[in-house]
Amino acid sequence: MVQENGYSARRFLSAEACLNALAGARFRLAIIDYLLPGMNGLALIKRIRETIPGIKTILLTGVSNDQEIRTLAKVQGIDHYLKKPLDLSLFYDIVQSACPEGKTAGEGRRAAELDIAGGNLLIGASVPMKNVKELITRLARVDANLLITGDTGTGKEIAARSIHQHSARKHNAFIPVNCASLPEGLLESELFGHEKGAFTNAVQAKKGMFELADKGTLFLDEIGDMNPHLQAKVLRAIQERKIWRVGGTAEISVDVRIISATHRDLEKMVAEGSFREDLYYRLNVVKIRMPRLAERKDDMPLFVEYIKTKYNRNNPGVLMKTITPEAMESLCGYAWPGNVRELENVLLEAFILSRDGEIKASDLPIKLENKAYANAGTNSLPSLEEYQEKFRRGYVIELLRKYKGNVTLCAQHAKINRASFHKILYHYDIDQSKFKK
Ligand SMILES: Nc1ncnc2c1ncn2[C@@H]1O[C@H](COP(=O)(O)OP(=O)(O)O)[C@@H](O)[C@H]1O
Ligand SMILES: [Mg+2]
Repeated sequence: MVQENGYSARRFLSAEACLNALAGARFRLAIIDYLLPGMNGLALIKRIRETIPGIKTILLTGVSNDQEIRTLAKVQGIDHYLKKPLDLSLFYDIVQSACPEGKTAGEGRRAAELDIAGGNLLIGASVPMKNVKELITRLARVDANLLITGDTGTGKEIAARSIHQHSARKHNAFIPVNCASLPEGLLESELFGHEKGAFTNAVQAKKGMFELADKGTLFLDEIGDMNPHLQAKVLRAIQERKIWRVGGTAEISVDVRIISATHRDLEKMVAEGSFREDLYYRLNVVKIRMPRLAERKDDMPLFVEYIKTKYNRNNPGVLMKTITPEAMESLCGYAWPGNVRELENVLLEAFILSRDGEIKASDLPIKLENKAYANAGTNSLPSLEEYQEKFRRGYVIELLRKYKGNVTLCAQHAKINRASFHKILYHYDIDQSKFKK
């Protein structure tokens, strides 16, 4: 946007990327969003100023309840504070006054836009995550097929995107295909495309994902679920670097890097004969294993911060501020079979339930609380009544979640009448409409 108005600007999708680009750069103005993954805008501006003293700064925020941020920005001496939606003419006046010579960008005249939108960032600073990130940067540059293993929800797809973005193919397409979600015939024509009339519904010829990913990266997610017939076709495509559309006769050359992912034990499947050994070796030239969330509890505060930021960005008007130490303890005590995906769901729901911008242990699902009690030992066990109360609340929330806020269905399931169910909701101050999606 700033660029279109004649300024020379750079845009960064993460605080990390922005900080990495600062050394030796001659930015004059930093335009920073308050809500960023991992680090808030105020903290980022502080770091930027340490590197480039005298740089002008603009803080943007979409948070509607922003008194606190505004005050902090003032205290920190940030030059301008703007609320979204932006008043564009005001915005340009400010940019112009900060960079009077910046327009019609001559050599050495630069205004900088450091706009952080929060892209596909792999969150994590724990030892296992650091290792993964290092591996990603190294393997991204090797143009070999790569297999990502790890349980569901461990971030395999984000890792794949990140590898693509760090690779020489980054300016070409990244095409994800989920091999588990489509029936065989459909998956085949998704992957390889089809000619007009190849089958009943093929009214037009269509390019497949292999063709669309030409010179880029094809991400075959849940490759362990691919059936033997398609395994053979994919193998042939890799070996010959050519594909044939369904119903087609002409061969089409393709240049793709294949990143595949699976939560299954492919080696075991090979041993059992359900996955082709030759394909396995073609896909698994290099390998990354994504750690489970339980292996990197150190990252929990980072994740909480990240998901909070995401929630705040999408829900202007209700600002999430903190999480109590007890709630954090519950989060760390749980096994997280669904990994980051499950954590994301749990936290988003906790945000919905929390009424005062603070997540308490009681806002978390009962499955976490039971664990926390089990870990805490007898001293912190509550009274029977307290425990029953918490359990009832948790039960009601699980029902609302299951039936998406439909009170009739919840009451039926609980085998009580609607009025009684309503009364319980009122008692716990739960708004069922928040569960309607
Ligand atoms: N390290 C991570 N940093 C940020 N988000 C993550 C991370 N790992 C997982 N997620 C989030 O968890 C969800 C599941 O990630 P995904 O890559 O689809 O997992 P998988 O493919 O391994 O099942 C996504 O919403 C993703 O944004
Ligand atoms: Mg996945």
